[in-house]
Amino acid sequence: MDLSADVFAETLVAALDTREHETGEHSKRVACHTLVLARRFTADSERLRQIYWGSLLHDLGKIGIPDAVLLKPGPLAADERALMRAHPEKGYAILKNVPSMREAAEIVLAHEERFDGSGYPRGLRGLPFDAAKAEIVRLAGTQFDPAAVEAFLAEEPVLREMVAAKCTMPAPA
Ligand SMILES: [Fe+2]
Repeated sequence: MDLSADVFAETLVAALDTREHETGEHSKRVACHTLVLARRFTADSERLRQIYWGSLLHDLGKIGIPDAVLLKPGPLAADERALMRAHPEKGYAILKNVPSMREAAEIVLAHEERFDGSGYPRGLRGLPFDAAKAEIVRLAGTQFDPAAVEAFLAEEPVLREMVAAKCTMPAPA
């Protein structure tokens, strides 16, 4: 059987929709609106597909949230909020091993992050460097030589300073 990635993504949204109808409809709107904006940043069709799927499936992890929390009318208690905040990681766990959805899975994991660092689950701040670091560490041993990743981590403070100062050359020793 050959299940195309498009059909797979639509199927996952349909599965999510059986839990909470509004989430599926909301996801489709988000995906369309995101695609319009993403086209201002890239014309790469594969990237745009990943961005579309990542947007479409951003709340997929809500499939793993108990009804009492997911469908609760009104504000959530602190412990319920903590359960709800696990949804980006749950969605990532579902998608992470699908080779054609790797980038989309990262978008799912990151969709509740905020530019100022107040989001979750990683509280990413200064997104370019931290996002790059997370990606480099994640790919150690597959895309990247672990020795190179070790060197990167050893030089992290220097690299951070360079990024913050927007300079391209280290000062001579
Ligand atoms: Fe979400």
